[in-house]
Amino acid sequence: MASTKGQTILCKGAVCWGPGEPLVIEEVEVDPPQFGEVRIQILFSSLCRSDVTFWQDKPKIGLFPRIFGHEASGIIESVGEGVTEFVEGDHVLPLFTGECMKCIHCKSTKSNLCEKYRISSARGVMLSDKKTRFRVNGKPVYHYSGSTFCQYTVLEQENVVKLDPSAPLDKVCLLSCGVAAGLSSVWKVANVQKGSTVAIFGLGTVGLAVAAGAKKVGAGKIIGVDINPKKFERALQFGVTDCVNPLETNRPVQEVVKDMISGGVDYSFECVGNAQVVESALLSCHDGWGMTIICGVAGEKTPFTAHPAVLLLGRTITGTIFGGLKPKSELPKFVEMYMNKEFALEDFITHELPLSEINDAFKLLIDGECLRCVIHL
Ligand code: APR
Ligand code: ZN
Repeated sequence: MASTKGQTILCKGAVCWGPGEPLVIEEVEVDPPQFGEVRIQILFSSLCRSDVTFWQDKPKIGLFPRIFGHEASGIIESVGEGVTEFVEGDHVLPLFTGECMKCIHCKSTKSNLCEKYRISSARGVMLSDKKTRFRVNGKPVYHYSGSTFCQYTVLEQENVVKLDPSAPLDKVCLLSCGVAAGLSSVWKVANVQKGSTVAIFGLGTVGLAVAAGAKKVGAGKIIGVDINPKKFERALQFGVTDCVNPLETNRPVQEVVKDMISGGVDYSFECVGNAQVVESALLSCHDGWGMTIICGVAGEKTPFTAHPAVLLLGRTITGTIFGGLKPKSELPKFVEMYMNKEFALEDFITHELPLSEINDAFKLLIDGECLRCVIHL
């Protein structure tokens, strides 16, 4: 095949023209990568809940038309000037949050929020020239954290990580967001210990990755909380030991949790993206040492509230983007662990669809019917 290096590529992409509108498969022009950028042929992209949140434009960013998708895998098609780390043909994961290795955050062991390349859902353009690399019929189309619902995309090299070429791209795409985030929230952020008790609010992919991670380190009881009872059967397979549906009780859910584990759990994880659920998760924690970890991305601007005494009595609340993982330097370890069968990704893939049926994937996730639907580009 003739090289496309340096040329604009015409390919198929799922374009969102307005908030909540069905995506339209368009002929998208993708510009060549500029200085420090790479162009990636995306092969697989799974649908994550935050794509839905921003597609609905819950945070009212209003950047349309836009190409969503961020949890994906692909192959480097070409690299821009100044790129030394990647060559054409490298297998890669795009990263919705990047790592420059030089800034105060990247140099700290305490943070994974690179000052320059951290997640920025409100930015729809490339950093270098504040322009987009996508057009449809000459009209610019905005980026979104990777824009992987397109056969080709352009990213800064700081927002891409190289893969072991033997890693199956149709599975490891899940590691570029949800599953890695859930596992790392347990292992790195909370550091859940053997025998600890855990409550997980929200039993989607992120919540079940938390369950799988907690089970692996030998957590004791793992309580799963979800308002969709269809989630419970699968959750038990991921290591959840007890299920609670807040809609089936007249009491606050934290009281139900505290009945199951006297005084409350050691760790609670919020994997929904809802301020009220954050409050329930916090109140489900044991005093003295209980810790709540926010993993969900709340679309609405509603704050959560807590009486200071809840924290005064020794509870901690924290939050994490991508489970605190440094995306370039620490994600390859997760790929290796998956390859060594230390955890499974297959169990999270409930559906696979071609790009032409991407709107069905949105429906499946919204209807609570799937964990991850992998879109084949
Ligand atoms: N209480 C408990 N569970 C709830 C509630 C609630 N009030 N509201 C929704 N849920 C459940 C849903 O039924 C679903 O099972 O939360 C789960 C969320 O799962 P998914 O939609 O599959 O989302 P997931 O991809 O796991 O992401 C979870 O993490 O990365 C963020 O943006 C993402 O905020 C989202 C969260
Ligand atoms: Zn940095």
